[in-house]
Amino acid sequence: MSEGKEPAAAGPACGTASPEDAGWWRGAAIYEVYVRSFLDSDGDGIGDLGGVAQKLDYIADLGVDAVWLSPFYKSPQKDFGYDVSDFHLVDPSAGTMEDFMTVLDGVHARGMKLLLDFVPGHTSDEHPWFLESRESRDNAKSDWYVWADKAPDGGPPSNWLSSFGGSAWQWEPRRGQYYYHPFLPCQPALNLLRPEVLRHVTAQMGYWADLGVDGFRLDAVQCLGHDPDFRSNPPLGQADHRILIGGGRGNPFGDQWHVFDRNAHGTAEVLAHLRDFAERSGCILIGELADVDSSAIARDYANEGRNLHAVYDFDLINCKAETEALNAMLEKRAGLLEDAWLMNVFTNHDSRRSVSNLTRFASLDNRAEAAKMLIFLQMTLRGGCAVFQGEELGLPHPVLTWEDILDPWAKAFWPVFDGRDGARTPFPWSDGPNAGFSTAERTWLPVPPEHLRLNAAAQAEDPDSVLSFFRGFSRWRRGQSILRTGRMEMGRRDRAPLISWSRLAGDTIWRAAVNFSEDQAFFALPESAQAINAPGCASEVTRHGIALDPFGRALVRWPKRA
Ligand code: NOJ
Repeated sequence: MSEGKEPAAAGPACGTASPEDAGWWRGAAIYEVYVRSFLDSDGDGIGDLGGVAQKLDYIADLGVDAVWLSPFYKSPQKDFGYDVSDFHLVDPSAGTMEDFMTVLDGVHARGMKLLLDFVPGHTSDEHPWFLESRESRDNAKSDWYVWADKAPDGGPPSNWLSSFGGSAWQWEPRRGQYYYHPFLPCQPALNLLRPEVLRHVTAQMGYWADLGVDGFRLDAVQCLGHDPDFRSNPPLGQADHRILIGGGRGNPFGDQWHVFDRNAHGTAEVLAHLRDFAERSGCILIGELADVDSSAIARDYANEGRNLHAVYDFDLINCKAETEALNAMLEKRAGLLEDAWLMNVFTNHDSRRSVSNLTRFASLDNRAEAAKMLIFLQMTLRGGCAVFQGEELGLPHPVLTWEDILDPWAKAFWPVFDGRDGARTPFPWSDGPNAGFSTAERTWLPVPPEHLRLNAAAQAEDPDSVLSFFRGFSRWRRGQSILRTGRMEMGRRDRAPLISWSRLAGDTIWRAAVNFSEDQAFFALPESAQAINAPGCASEVTRHGIALDPFGRALVRWPKRA
Protein backbone atom coordinates (compact mmCIF):
# COMPACT_ATOMS: atom_id res chain seq x y z
CA MET A 1 0.00 0.00 0.00
CA SER A 2 1.46 3.37 -0.92
CA GLU A 3 2.21 5.60 2.01
CA GLY A 4 -0.17 8.41 2.83
CA LYS A 5 -2.99 7.22 0.58
CA GLU A 6 -6.22 6.23 2.27
CA PRO A 7 -6.26 2.43 2.63
CA ALA A 8 -8.93 0.41 0.90
CA ALA A 9 -11.48 -1.22 3.17
CA ALA A 10 -10.89 -4.95 3.80
CA GLY A 11 -12.62 -7.10 1.22
CA PRO A 12 -15.23 -9.78 1.58
CA ALA A 13 -15.22 -12.47 4.25
CA CYS A 14 -11.87 -14.22 4.47
CA GLY A 15 -10.41 -17.15 6.35
CA THR A 16 -12.19 -20.48 6.40
CA ALA A 17 -15.28 -19.61 8.44
CA SER A 18 -18.31 -20.67 6.45
CA PRO A 19 -21.68 -19.30 7.58
CA GLU A 20 -22.24 -22.60 9.46
CA ASP A 21 -19.13 -22.29 11.60
CA ALA A 22 -19.06 -18.50 11.94
CA GLY A 23 -19.32 -18.91 15.72
CA TRP A 24 -16.44 -21.41 15.89
CA TRP A 25 -14.57 -19.24 18.38
CA ARG A 26 -17.23 -19.59 21.09
CA GLY A 27 -15.71 -21.97 23.61
CA ALA A 28 -12.81 -22.79 21.29
CA ALA A 29 -9.47 -24.19 22.45
CA ILE A 30 -6.65 -22.05 21.07
CA TYR A 31 -3.00 -23.09 21.15
CA GLU A 32 -0.48 -20.28 21.52
CA VAL A 33 2.73 -20.81 19.58
CA TYR A 34 5.56 -18.53 20.65
CA VAL A 35 7.36 -18.81 17.35
CA ARG A 36 10.86 -17.92 18.59
CA SER A 37 10.79 -20.86 20.99
CA PHE A 38 8.82 -23.56 19.19
CA LEU A 39 11.18 -25.18 16.66
CA ASP A 40 14.24 -23.82 14.87
CA SER A 41 14.29 -25.13 11.29
CA ASP A 42 17.38 -23.26 10.02
CA GLY A 43 19.86 -23.81 12.83
CA ASP A 44 20.27 -20.21 14.01
CA GLY A 45 19.08 -20.96 17.55
CA ILE A 46 15.77 -19.12 17.08
CA GLY A 47 12.43 -20.79 16.37
CA ASP A 48 10.77 -19.91 13.08
CA LEU A 49 7.77 -20.43 10.83
CA GLY A 50 9.52 -23.33 9.07
CA GLY A 51 9.64 -25.02 12.48
CA VAL A 52 5.94 -24.35 13.07
CA ALA A 53 5.14 -25.89 9.67
CA GLN A 54 7.03 -29.05 10.63
CA LYS A 55 5.03 -29.46 13.82
CA LEU A 56 1.50 -28.90 12.57
CA ASP A 57 0.62 -32.58 12.96
CA TYR A 58 1.72 -32.37 16.58
CA ILE A 59 -0.55 -29.36 17.12
CA ALA A 60 -3.50 -30.93 15.30
CA ASP A 61 -3.10 -34.04 17.47
CA LEU A 62 -3.68 -31.85 20.52
CA GLY A 63 -7.31 -31.54 19.43
CA VAL A 64 -7.31 -27.73 19.48
CA ASP A 65 -9.49 -25.57 17.26
CA ALA A 66 -7.06 -22.81 16.42
CA VAL A 67 -3.41 -21.80 16.45
CA TRP A 68 -2.28 -18.33 17.54
CA LEU A 69 1.16 -17.29 16.33
CA SER A 70 3.20 -14.74 18.27
CA PRO A 71 4.35 -11.77 16.11
CA PHE A 72 6.70 -12.75 13.29
CA TYR A 73 6.61 -9.40 11.44
CA LYS A 74 9.76 -7.47 10.65
CA SER A 75 11.11 -6.17 13.92
CA PRO A 76 14.32 -5.06 15.61
CA GLN A 77 13.28 -7.67 18.24
CA LYS A 78 13.86 -5.36 21.18
CA ASP A 79 10.57 -6.63 22.61
CA PHE A 80 10.92 -9.90 20.70
CA GLY A 81 8.50 -9.05 17.92
CA TYR A 82 6.05 -6.78 19.73
CA ASP A 83 8.03 -3.88 18.25
CA VAL A 84 6.97 -4.07 14.60
CA SER A 85 8.88 -2.12 11.95
CA ASP A 86 6.87 -3.43 8.96
CA PHE A 87 3.48 -5.10 9.34
CA HIS A 88 3.62 -6.68 5.87
CA LEU A 89 7.01 -8.38 6.04
CA VAL A 90 8.16 -11.55 7.78
CA ASP A 91 11.20 -10.95 9.99
CA PRO A 92 14.22 -12.81 8.59
CA SER A 93 14.68 -14.56 11.95
CA ALA A 94 11.19 -16.07 11.51
CA GLY A 95 11.63 -17.13 7.87
CA THR A 96 9.89 -16.05 4.70
CA MET A 97 6.44 -15.28 3.35
CA GLU A 98 6.56 -18.69 1.69
CA ASP A 99 6.98 -20.26 5.14
CA PHE A 100 4.02 -18.28 6.40
CA MET A 101 1.81 -19.46 3.53
CA THR A 102 2.88 -23.06 4.23
CA VAL A 103 1.78 -22.65 7.85
CA LEU A 104 -1.50 -21.02 6.85
CA ASP A 105 -2.36 -23.73 4.33
CA GLY A 106 -1.19 -26.47 6.69
CA VAL A 107 -3.33 -25.19 9.57
CA HIS A 108 -6.41 -25.01 7.33
CA ALA A 109 -5.71 -28.42 5.79
CA ARG A 110 -5.85 -29.87 9.30
CA GLY A 111 -9.22 -28.29 10.01
CA MET A 112 -7.92 -25.60 12.36
CA LYS A 113 -8.08 -21.80 12.24
CA LEU A 114 -5.12 -19.44 12.25
CA LEU A 115 -4.97 -16.34 14.45
CA LEU A 116 -2.17 -13.80 14.19
CA ASP A 117 -0.91 -11.64 16.99
CA PHE A 118 -1.41 -8.05 15.93
CA VAL A 119 -0.18 -4.92 17.72
CA PRO A 120 -2.63 -2.09 17.00
CA GLY A 121 -1.41 0.41 19.60
CA HIS A 122 2.27 0.91 18.90
CA THR A 123 5.07 0.27 16.42
CA SER A 124 8.82 0.04 16.60
CA ASP A 125 10.65 3.36 16.55
CA GLU A 126 12.18 2.00 13.32
CA HIS A 127 8.80 1.87 11.56
CA PRO A 128 8.76 4.30 8.58
CA TRP A 129 5.62 5.94 10.02
CA PHE A 130 7.52 6.92 13.16
CA LEU A 131 10.67 7.92 11.29
CA GLU A 132 8.55 10.40 9.35
CA SER A 133 6.46 11.52 12.31
CA ARG A 134 9.46 12.37 14.48
CA GLU A 135 11.11 14.55 11.82
CA SER A 136 9.04 17.70 12.34
CA ARG A 137 5.87 19.06 13.87
CA ASP A 138 4.26 19.65 10.48
CA ASN A 139 4.94 16.61 8.32
CA ALA A 140 2.11 14.49 6.90
CA LYS A 141 2.35 12.00 9.77
CA SER A 142 3.22 14.48 12.49
CA ASP A 143 0.21 13.46 14.59
CA TRP A 144 0.25 9.74 13.85
CA TYR A 145 1.92 9.18 17.24
CA VAL A 146 1.19 10.75 20.62
CA TRP A 147 3.36 13.86 20.89
CA ALA A 148 3.29 16.43 23.69
CA ASP A 149 5.18 19.52 24.74
CA LYS A 150 7.32 19.45 27.84
CA ALA A 151 5.80 20.46 31.17
CA PRO A 152 6.56 24.01 32.43
CA ASP A 153 9.44 22.58 34.48
CA GLY A 154 10.93 21.04 31.32
CA GLY A 155 10.03 17.51 32.38
CA PRO A 156 7.59 15.05 30.80
CA PRO A 157 4.01 16.25 30.22
CA SER A 158 2.49 13.91 32.82
CA ASN A 159 3.35 11.27 35.41
CA TRP A 160 2.42 8.37 33.10
CA LEU A 161 4.65 5.36 33.56
CA SER A 162 5.69 2.56 31.26
CA SER A 163 4.52 -0.91 32.32
CA PHE A 164 8.13 -1.95 31.84
CA GLY A 165 9.60 0.72 34.13
CA GLY A 166 10.34 4.44 34.11
CA SER A 167 8.48 7.35 32.55
CA ALA A 168 6.19 6.61 29.59
CA TRP A 169 7.49 9.77 27.86
CA GLN A 170 10.63 9.96 25.76
CA TRP A 171 12.21 13.21 24.62
CA GLU A 172 12.72 13.60 20.86
CA PRO A 173 15.20 16.40 20.06
CA ARG A 174 14.21 16.61 16.37
CA ARG A 175 10.76 17.89 17.30
CA GLY A 176 11.63 19.28 20.71
CA GLN A 177 8.74 17.24 22.12
CA TYR A 178 8.05 14.10 24.07
CA TYR A 179 6.38 11.00 22.62
CA TYR A 180 4.33 8.53 24.61
CA HIS A 181 5.26 4.84 24.96
CA PRO A 182 3.24 2.65 27.35
CA PHE A 183 5.89 -0.06 27.01
CA LEU A 184 9.54 0.35 25.91
CA PRO A 185 10.85 3.70 24.62
CA CYS A 186 11.43 1.93 21.28
CA GLN A 187 7.65 1.23 21.09
CA PRO A 188 6.02 4.63 20.43
CA ALA A 189 2.22 4.68 20.83
CA LEU A 190 0.16 5.24 17.70
CA ASN A 191 -2.39 8.02 17.97
CA LEU A 192 -5.50 5.90 17.42
CA LEU A 193 -7.70 8.86 18.33
CA ARG A 194 -7.03 10.03 14.76
CA PRO A 195 -9.40 8.17 12.39
CA GLU A 196 -6.85 8.26 9.57
CA VAL A 197 -4.32 6.39 11.71
CA LEU A 198 -6.92 3.87 12.77
CA ARG A 199 -7.85 3.22 9.15
CA HIS A 200 -4.21 2.61 8.27
CA VAL A 201 -3.81 0.26 11.23
CA THR A 202 -6.81 -1.86 10.28
CA ALA A 203 -5.59 -1.86 6.68
CA GLN A 204 -2.47 -3.69 7.93
CA MET A 205 -4.74 -6.31 9.46
CA GLY A 206 -6.70 -6.39 6.21
CA TYR A 207 -3.54 -7.42 4.38
CA TRP A 208 -3.36 -10.64 6.43
CA ALA A 209 -7.11 -11.09 6.38
CA ASP A 210 -7.02 -11.05 2.59
CA LEU A 211 -4.40 -13.79 2.67
CA GLY A 212 -6.87 -15.94 4.59
CA VAL A 213 -6.14 -15.72 8.32
CA ASP A 214 -9.16 -16.30 10.54
CA GLY A 215 -8.61 -13.66 13.17
CA PHE A 216 -6.28 -11.77 15.44
CA ARG A 217 -5.13 -11.73 19.04
CA LEU A 218 -4.91 -8.00 19.59
CA ASP A 219 -2.10 -6.83 21.80
CA ALA A 220 -2.73 -4.64 24.85
CA VAL A 221 -6.23 -3.34 24.10
CA GLN A 222 -6.20 -1.44 27.40
CA CYS A 223 -3.88 1.01 25.60
CA LEU A 224 -6.07 1.86 22.60
CA GLY A 225 -7.05 5.27 23.98
CA HIS A 226 -5.45 7.99 26.08
CA ASP A 227 -6.42 11.25 27.70
CA PRO A 228 -6.00 13.94 25.02
CA ASP A 229 -5.08 16.49 27.72
CA PHE A 230 -2.40 14.17 29.15
CA ARG A 231 -3.63 14.63 32.70
CA SER A 232 -1.51 12.93 35.38
CA ASN A 233 -2.85 9.77 37.01
CA PRO A 234 -3.86 10.01 40.69
CA PRO A 235 -2.20 7.68 43.19
CA LEU A 236 -3.94 4.33 43.49
CA GLY A 237 -5.25 5.04 47.00
CA GLN A 238 -8.67 3.59 47.51
CA ALA A 239 -9.53 3.59 43.80
CA ASP A 240 -11.79 0.84 42.52
CA HIS A 241 -9.64 -0.18 39.62
CA ARG A 242 -6.88 -2.19 41.23
CA ILE A 243 -3.83 -2.61 39.09
CA LEU A 244 -2.87 -6.22 38.90
CA ILE A 245 0.37 -6.12 37.00
CA GLY A 246 3.57 -4.55 38.18
CA GLY A 247 2.41 -3.59 41.65
CA GLY A 248 4.24 -5.26 44.49
CA ARG A 249 7.16 -6.20 42.32
CA GLY A 250 9.16 -3.07 42.74
CA ASN A 251 7.40 -1.30 39.87
CA PRO A 252 5.85 2.08 40.76
CA PHE A 253 3.45 1.53 37.82
CA GLY A 254 1.34 -0.41 40.32
CA ASP A 255 1.01 2.60 42.61
CA GLN A 256 -1.04 4.70 40.19
CA TRP A 257 -4.72 4.61 39.31
CA HIS A 258 -4.39 4.43 35.54
CA VAL A 259 -7.49 6.41 34.78
CA PHE A 260 -5.88 8.55 32.05
CA ASP A 261 -3.60 6.07 30.30
CA ARG A 262 -5.31 2.66 30.47
CA ASN A 263 -8.88 1.93 29.29
CA ALA A 264 -8.95 5.67 28.66
CA HIS A 265 -10.62 8.26 26.43
CA GLY A 266 -11.43 7.11 22.89
CA THR A 267 -11.34 3.37 23.60
CA ALA A 268 -15.01 2.86 22.69
CA GLU A 269 -14.58 4.51 19.28
CA VAL A 270 -11.48 2.45 18.50
CA LEU A 271 -13.27 -0.75 19.53
CA ALA A 272 -16.24 0.11 17.31
CA HIS A 273 -13.89 0.67 14.37
CA LEU A 274 -12.18 -2.67 15.03
CA ARG A 275 -15.56 -4.42 15.15
CA ASP A 276 -16.48 -2.86 11.86
CA PHE A 277 -13.27 -4.28 10.40
CA ALA A 278 -14.14 -7.69 11.86
CA GLU A 279 -17.62 -7.63 10.33
CA ARG A 280 -16.28 -6.67 6.91
CA SER A 281 -13.40 -9.13 6.92
CA GLY A 282 -15.01 -12.10 8.69
CA CYS A 283 -12.07 -12.19 11.10
CA ILE A 284 -12.53 -12.72 14.81
CA LEU A 285 -10.82 -10.46 17.35
CA ILE A 286 -9.58 -11.54 20.76
CA GLY A 287 -8.23 -8.65 22.79
CA GLU A 288 -5.52 -8.97 25.39
CA LEU A 289 -6.65 -6.92 28.38
CA ALA A 290 -3.85 -6.47 30.90
CA ASP A 291 -2.87 -4.02 33.66
CA VAL A 292 -6.51 -3.51 34.67
CA ASP A 293 -9.21 -5.20 36.69
CA SER A 294 -10.69 -6.98 33.70
CA SER A 295 -13.77 -8.21 35.53
CA ALA A 296 -14.77 -4.57 36.03
CA ILE A 297 -14.52 -3.63 32.38
CA ALA A 298 -14.50 -6.78 30.22
CA ARG A 299 -18.11 -6.20 29.15
CA ASP A 300 -17.11 -2.92 27.51
CA TYR A 301 -14.59 -4.77 25.37
CA ALA A 302 -16.43 -7.97 24.47
CA ASN A 303 -20.14 -8.15 24.81
CA GLU A 304 -21.92 -10.69 22.65
CA GLY A 305 -22.12 -9.12 19.21
CA ARG A 306 -20.37 -5.87 20.11
CA ASN A 307 -16.74 -4.76 19.95
CA LEU A 308 -14.30 -7.68 20.29
CA HIS A 309 -15.37 -11.31 20.09
CA ALA A 310 -13.56 -12.24 23.27
CA VAL A 311 -11.30 -10.84 25.95
CA TYR A 312 -8.05 -12.50 26.89
CA ASP A 313 -7.29 -11.41 30.43
CA PHE A 314 -4.95 -12.06 33.35
CA ASP A 315 -7.40 -12.57 36.23
CA LEU A 316 -6.77 -16.31 36.51
CA ILE A 317 -3.01 -15.90 36.12
CA ASN A 318 -3.02 -13.34 38.91
CA CYS A 319 -5.28 -15.34 41.21
CA LYS A 320 -3.93 -16.58 44.53
CA ALA A 321 -3.16 -20.31 44.62
CA GLU A 322 -5.97 -21.10 47.10
CA THR A 323 -9.33 -22.81 46.75
CA GLU A 324 -11.16 -19.88 48.28
CA ALA A 325 -9.54 -17.25 46.05
CA LEU A 326 -9.99 -19.31 42.91
CA ASN A 327 -13.60 -20.11 43.77
CA ALA A 328 -14.35 -16.43 44.32
CA MET A 329 -12.65 -15.47 41.08
CA LEU A 330 -14.53 -18.12 39.10
CA GLU A 331 -17.81 -16.99 40.58
CA LYS A 332 -17.10 -13.41 39.57
CA ARG A 333 -16.28 -14.55 36.05
CA ALA A 334 -19.34 -16.81 35.81
CA GLY A 335 -21.54 -13.70 36.08
CA LEU A 336 -19.58 -11.89 33.38
CA LEU A 337 -19.57 -14.90 31.11
CA GLU A 338 -23.34 -14.68 30.77
CA ASP A 339 -22.84 -12.18 27.96
CA ALA A 340 -19.14 -11.43 27.54
CA TRP A 341 -16.66 -14.00 26.30
CA LEU A 342 -13.61 -14.27 28.52
CA MET A 343 -10.97 -16.78 27.52
CA ASN A 344 -9.65 -18.93 30.34
CA VAL A 345 -5.93 -18.30 30.45
CA PHE A 346 -3.54 -19.81 32.98
CA THR A 347 -0.31 -18.65 31.43
CA ASN A 348 1.34 -17.28 28.29
CA HIS A 349 4.66 -15.93 27.02
CA ASP A 350 4.47 -13.11 29.60
CA SER A 351 3.70 -15.15 32.72
CA ARG A 352 4.93 -17.89 34.98
CA ARG A 353 4.18 -21.47 33.92
CA SER A 354 0.87 -22.48 35.46
CA VAL A 355 1.92 -25.46 37.61
CA SER A 356 4.53 -23.23 39.23
CA ASN A 357 1.97 -20.50 39.77
CA LEU A 358 -1.63 -21.58 40.41
CA THR A 359 -0.58 -24.90 41.94
CA ARG A 360 2.80 -23.82 43.27
CA PHE A 361 2.04 -25.67 46.51
CA ALA A 362 2.12 -29.04 44.68
CA SER A 363 4.98 -31.37 45.56
CA LEU A 364 7.16 -32.70 42.78
CA ASP A 365 5.35 -36.06 42.96
CA ASN A 366 1.99 -34.45 42.35
CA ARG A 367 3.02 -31.94 39.73
CA ALA A 368 1.85 -33.96 36.71
CA GLU A 369 -1.59 -34.44 38.28
CA ALA A 370 -1.73 -30.74 39.12
CA ALA A 371 -0.97 -29.94 35.47
CA LYS A 372 -3.76 -32.28 34.31
CA MET A 373 -6.18 -30.69 36.76
CA LEU A 374 -5.39 -27.22 35.42
CA ILE A 375 -5.95 -28.41 31.84
CA PHE A 376 -9.28 -29.95 32.85
CA LEU A 377 -10.31 -26.74 34.59
CA GLN A 378 -9.31 -24.57 31.66
CA MET A 379 -11.19 -26.76 29.21
CA THR A 380 -14.41 -27.19 31.13
CA LEU A 381 -15.08 -23.64 32.29
CA ARG A 382 -17.27 -21.49 30.08
CA GLY A 383 -15.36 -19.14 27.80
CA GLY A 384 -12.97 -21.35 25.89
CA CYS A 385 -9.28 -21.43 26.55
CA ALA A 386 -5.92 -20.29 25.27
CA VAL A 387 -3.23 -22.84 26.05
CA PHE A 388 0.39 -21.75 25.89
CA GLN A 389 2.88 -24.11 24.24
CA GLY A 390 4.47 -26.49 26.74
CA GLU A 391 1.48 -26.44 29.08
CA GLU A 392 0.41 -29.74 27.50
CA LEU A 393 3.68 -31.13 28.89
CA GLY A 394 3.09 -29.70 32.37
CA LEU A 395 6.41 -27.81 32.25
CA PRO A 396 7.43 -26.11 35.49
CA HIS A 397 8.71 -22.52 35.41
CA PRO A 398 12.50 -22.77 35.11
CA VAL A 399 15.02 -20.91 37.21
CA LEU A 400 17.21 -18.67 35.06
CA THR A 401 20.28 -16.74 36.08
CA TRP A 402 21.04 -13.05 35.42
CA GLU A 403 23.37 -14.14 32.58
CA ASP A 404 20.40 -15.81 30.80
CA ILE A 405 18.07 -12.83 31.05
CA LEU A 406 17.16 -10.98 27.84
CA ASP A 407 13.77 -9.46 28.67
CA PRO A 408 14.17 -5.67 29.12
CA TRP A 409 11.38 -5.70 31.71
CA ALA A 410 13.37 -8.17 33.83
CA LYS A 411 16.54 -6.15 33.37
CA ALA A 412 14.73 -3.12 34.81
CA PHE A 413 13.50 -4.90 37.94
CA TRP A 414 15.89 -7.80 38.60
CA PRO A 415 16.04 -9.53 41.04
CA VAL A 416 12.67 -8.47 42.50
CA PHE A 417 11.07 -9.48 39.22
CA ASP A 418 12.69 -12.05 36.94
CA GLY A 419 10.66 -11.18 33.86
CA ARG A 420 9.33 -13.30 31.05
CA ASP A 421 12.27 -15.30 29.76
CA GLY A 422 11.34 -18.31 31.92
CA ALA A 423 8.11 -18.77 29.96
CA ARG A 424 9.93 -18.44 26.65
CA THR A 425 12.62 -21.10 26.87
CA PRO A 426 12.83 -23.54 23.91
CA PHE A 427 10.18 -26.23 23.60
CA PRO A 428 11.55 -29.65 24.63
CA TRP A 429 10.80 -31.99 21.74
CA SER A 430 13.16 -34.84 22.67
CA ASP A 431 16.06 -35.71 24.94
CA GLY A 432 18.55 -34.92 22.14
CA PRO A 433 20.86 -31.90 21.93
CA ASN A 434 18.99 -28.67 22.73
CA ALA A 435 16.00 -30.92 23.50
CA GLY A 436 15.51 -31.31 19.73
CA PHE A 437 14.65 -27.61 19.41
CA SER A 438 17.68 -26.54 17.37
CA THR A 439 20.94 -27.77 15.89
CA ALA A 440 22.66 -24.51 16.82
CA GLU A 441 25.51 -24.50 19.28
CA ARG A 442 23.65 -21.96 21.37
CA THR A 443 19.92 -21.31 21.49
CA TRP A 444 18.56 -17.78 22.02
CA LEU A 445 17.43 -18.75 25.53
CA PRO A 446 18.80 -21.83 27.28
CA VAL A 447 16.95 -25.15 27.38
CA PRO A 448 16.19 -25.66 31.08
CA PRO A 449 17.67 -29.00 32.25
CA GLU A 450 14.49 -29.66 34.28
CA HIS A 451 12.46 -29.63 31.01
CA LEU A 452 14.48 -32.36 29.29
CA ARG A 453 12.85 -35.23 31.16
CA LEU A 454 9.43 -33.86 30.23
CA ASN A 455 10.10 -33.81 26.48
CA ALA A 456 7.21 -34.38 24.08
CA ALA A 457 8.59 -37.57 22.51
CA ALA A 458 8.90 -39.31 25.88
CA GLN A 459 5.46 -38.15 27.01
CA ALA A 460 3.86 -39.34 23.76
CA GLU A 461 4.97 -42.89 24.66
CA ASP A 462 3.56 -42.73 28.18
CA PRO A 463 -0.23 -43.20 28.44
CA ASP A 464 -0.19 -41.62 31.88
CA SER A 465 1.67 -38.46 30.90
CA VAL A 466 0.31 -34.93 30.92
CA LEU A 467 0.56 -34.89 27.12
CA SER A 468 -1.51 -38.08 26.78
CA PHE A 469 -4.10 -36.64 29.13
CA PHE A 470 -4.20 -33.41 27.15
CA ARG A 471 -4.66 -35.19 23.83
CA GLY A 472 -7.35 -37.52 25.13
CA PHE A 473 -9.34 -34.93 27.01
CA SER A 474 -9.09 -32.14 24.50
CA ARG A 475 -10.08 -34.34 21.53
CA TRP A 476 -13.04 -35.68 23.49
CA ARG A 477 -14.08 -32.19 24.56
CA ARG A 478 -14.15 -31.02 20.97
CA GLY A 479 -17.34 -32.99 20.39
CA GLN A 480 -19.09 -31.89 23.61
CA SER A 481 -21.12 -28.82 22.70
CA ILE A 482 -22.22 -28.33 26.31
CA LEU A 483 -18.59 -27.70 27.28
CA ARG A 484 -18.12 -25.26 24.42
CA THR A 485 -21.19 -23.10 24.72
CA GLY A 486 -23.26 -24.29 27.68
CA ARG A 487 -24.01 -21.76 30.42
CA MET A 488 -22.12 -21.99 33.70
CA GLU A 489 -23.10 -21.84 37.35
CA MET A 490 -20.63 -22.18 40.18
CA GLY A 491 -21.32 -24.68 42.95
CA ARG A 492 -21.21 -24.11 46.71
CA ARG A 493 -18.10 -22.37 47.92
CA ASP A 494 -17.89 -24.03 51.32
CA ARG A 495 -16.59 -27.38 50.12
CA ALA A 496 -12.82 -26.68 50.06
CA PRO A 497 -10.66 -28.17 48.69
CA LEU A 498 -13.33 -29.00 46.10
CA ILE A 499 -14.20 -26.52 43.39
CA SER A 500 -17.32 -27.43 41.47
CA TRP A 501 -19.46 -25.90 38.79
CA SER A 502 -22.20 -26.85 36.36
CA ARG A 503 -22.48 -26.49 32.63
CA LEU A 504 -26.02 -26.29 31.35
CA ALA A 505 -27.61 -26.66 27.92
CA GLY A 506 -31.36 -27.03 27.50
CA ASP A 507 -32.37 -29.33 30.35
CA THR A 508 -29.03 -31.11 30.44
CA ILE A 509 -26.78 -30.41 33.41
CA TRP A 510 -23.21 -31.55 33.75
CA ARG A 511 -21.41 -30.98 37.02
CA ALA A 512 -17.62 -30.75 37.10
CA ALA A 513 -15.39 -30.88 40.15
CA VAL A 514 -11.68 -30.65 40.88
CA ASN A 515 -9.77 -31.40 44.02
CA PHE A 516 -7.58 -28.32 44.38
CA SER A 517 -5.28 -29.92 46.93
CA GLU A 518 -2.81 -32.66 47.73
CA ASP A 519 -5.27 -34.42 50.06
CA GLN A 520 -8.09 -36.79 49.25
CA ALA A 521 -11.46 -35.11 48.66
CA PHE A 522 -14.97 -36.43 48.24
CA PHE A 523 -17.34 -35.24 45.53
CA ALA A 524 -20.77 -36.04 47.01
CA LEU A 525 -23.45 -36.92 44.47
CA PRO A 526 -27.19 -37.48 44.52
CA GLU A 527 -28.09 -41.07 43.76
CA SER A 528 -29.30 -40.37 40.26
CA ALA A 529 -26.09 -38.63 39.14
CA GLN A 530 -24.06 -40.60 36.61
CA ALA A 531 -20.35 -40.35 35.95
CA ILE A 532 -19.36 -39.29 32.48
CA ASN A 533 -16.49 -41.35 31.26
CA ALA A 534 -14.30 -38.42 30.25
CA PRO A 535 -10.70 -39.38 29.40
CA GLY A 536 -8.33 -39.10 32.34
CA CYS A 537 -11.06 -38.27 34.87
CA ALA A 538 -12.22 -40.15 37.96
CA SER A 539 -15.37 -42.12 37.17
CA GLU A 540 -15.74 -44.69 39.91
CA VAL A 541 -18.97 -43.74 41.65
CA THR A 542 -19.64 -45.28 45.03
CA ARG A 543 -23.12 -45.02 46.52
CA HIS A 544 -22.60 -41.46 47.66
CA GLY A 545 -20.12 -39.91 45.29
CA ILE A 546 -16.64 -39.98 43.82
CA ALA A 547 -13.40 -40.10 45.80
CA LEU A 548 -10.92 -37.70 44.24
CA ASP A 549 -7.17 -38.20 44.54
CA PRO A 550 -4.89 -35.17 44.90
CA PHE A 551 -5.73 -32.86 42.00
CA GLY A 552 -8.39 -35.35 40.83
CA ARG A 553 -11.17 -34.26 38.50
CA ALA A 554 -14.58 -35.59 37.57
CA LEU A 555 -17.54 -34.85 35.34
CA VAL A 556 -21.01 -36.17 36.05
CA ARG A 557 -24.43 -35.93 34.50
CA TRP A 558 -26.58 -34.24 37.15
CA PRO A 559 -30.25 -34.93 37.65
CA LYS A 560 -32.54 -32.50 35.87
CA ARG A 561 -34.05 -29.73 37.98
CA ALA A 562 -37.61 -30.27 39.04
C1 NOJ B 1 1.66 -7.73 25.57
C2 NOJ B 1 2.53 -8.78 24.97
O1 NOJ B 1 2.01 -10.05 25.29
C3 NOJ B 1 3.92 -8.57 25.53
O2 NOJ B 1 4.76 -9.65 25.23
C4 NOJ B 1 4.43 -7.26 24.99
O3 NOJ B 1 5.71 -7.00 25.55
C5 NOJ B 1 3.49 -6.11 25.36
N1 NOJ B 1 2.13 -6.42 25.13
C6 NOJ B 1 3.83 -4.87 24.56
O4 NOJ B 1 3.53 -5.09 23.21
